[in-house]
Amino acid sequence: MEASTYLQPITRTEQGLDPQDWSELRQLGHRMVDDMIDHLATIAQRPVWQPIPSEVRQRFRTSPPVDGEGAEKAYEDFRRYVLPYAEGNLHPRFWAWVIGAGSGLGMLADMLAAGINPNLGSGDHAPTLVERQVIDWMKQALGFPAESSGLLVTGASMANIIGLAVARHAKAGINVKEDGLFPAPARMMFYGSSETHNSIIKGLQLLGFGKQSFCPIGAGTDFKINIAALQDAISRHKHDGLKPLCVIGNAGTVNTGAVDDLAGLADLCAEHGLWFHVDGAIGAPLAISDSLRPMLRGMERADSLAFDLHKWMQMPYDVGCVLVRDESQHREAFSEAAGYLSRMPRGLCSGERWLSDYGPELSRGFRALKVWMCLKEHGLRKYGELFEQNIEQARYLAGLVESSEELELVARGELNIICLRYRGRVRDEQSLNALNRELLMRLQEQGIAAPSVAILGGKFALRVSICNHRSRSEDFDLFVREALRIGREIEKSAA
Ligand SMILES: Cc1ncc(COP(=O)(O)O)c(C=O)c1O
Repeated sequence: MEASTYLQPITRTEQGLDPQDWSELRQLGHRMVDDMIDHLATIAQRPVWQPIPSEVRQRFRTSPPVDGEGAEKAYEDFRRYVLPYAEGNLHPRFWAWVIGAGSGLGMLADMLAAGINPNLGSGDHAPTLVERQVIDWMKQALGFPAESSGLLVTGASMANIIGLAVARHAKAGINVKEDGLFPAPARMMFYGSSETHNSIIKGLQLLGFGKQSFCPIGAGTDFKINIAALQDAISRHKHDGLKPLCVIGNAGTVNTGAVDDLAGLADLCAEHGLWFHVDGAIGAPLAISDSLRPMLRGMERADSLAFDLHKWMQMPYDVGCVLVRDESQHREAFSEAAGYLSRMPRGLCSGERWLSDYGPELSRGFRALKVWMCLKEHGLRKYGELFEQNIEQARYLAGLVESSEELELVARGELNIICLRYRGRVRDEQSLNALNRELLMRLQEQGIAAPSVAILGGKFALRVSICNHRSRSEDFDLFVREALRIGREIEKSAA
């Protein structure tokens, strides 16, 4: 036998990334857990948000460390330069955009997930069963059939893209997987209210349809889609030779939390043979609550449903979910064979269907674990009660605003979103907008509260979106008091 030319002794000292001394990492880990639990336990005593000083910003502009500085130093940098200047969404008076407040067990679950570090795109291992079980639980909670499919993703933007991609696969009438959109005889059209989230537009751009394929339909004063106008648009487009393909229903719009008449949309889609996608990023989980479920009637008839778990379900970022009624359409839209991903009858490479067959990503983290553990910790009922609590708090805040002569309730959705502005004695719209812009920034800079922006009918408003399990009625009292104080201050200085 000839000697192999490969068989040479290894001359370098072999090394890895594990520490020499595990006890040091253990101690550091214990400190991290203690620090973070203290941080959570005392969050209400800190400013909601604070500006990042320029010397801190500067720290993020250095070159990559070529020689390591050690775990202690890395953690110290996190504690000093990252932790104090975080987004603020753990705080009870954080009500910006639609951002959940996370949870202690969710945080620890993410550590466990990274600890075992599986890739959920492939293979036969228990973490994939965790994700499948979470998807099954969500199907049951939201009224989707047991045989439907689903996937956990980064958030509702990706969930929307996946839903729209399956719609394209199922309804385009051409072989998009093979030929793309080139053979399409007519522009394909997607419909949703003018309140539809911009992730739908981004999805259509990414999928090759372009923004022109989205037809925004007017919404009424209740911000819900006008179904008669939708019907007209579909008929007009058919007459003009376009191809209506999909209707997007909203279960909780981003501006005001409006829920479309989903049953009406499901009927219309059935009548015209269109795909019915529901963007339930904010509102879909409300179906968990017996008292809130009726407002979502028709959502369970969607062909695809996108929703978030990191918003109102309070799971740490990031995690969203897509459910698709027809499992085979979902799988066909995304599966693509590759020799190195061949399935074996037994062993790690077994399992006919892998989670990567249901979405664009092959490598997928274990975001399912935090959902699985938090649902086990609290149970669905608790989440339902928290939704109801936030909606009651929104009503309470609307009441506080209405009872003040100096504040104006600009919009009040049926869920958890309130848009308001300071009026004082200012009457000119331009000055009011400038005043309220300043008010918003001062509320944030002074660490009092973090609402975000809404611009409704040209009015600049403070948008308070309550999906926060830490908010209490005193937080809304304080917010209104401080908004009035700062509003008066600005009004006086401008006079
Ligand atoms: C209605 C709606 N759809 C989709 C999204 C996008 O969700 P994500 O930010 O989780 O991607 C949002 C985000 O706020 C939303 O409000």
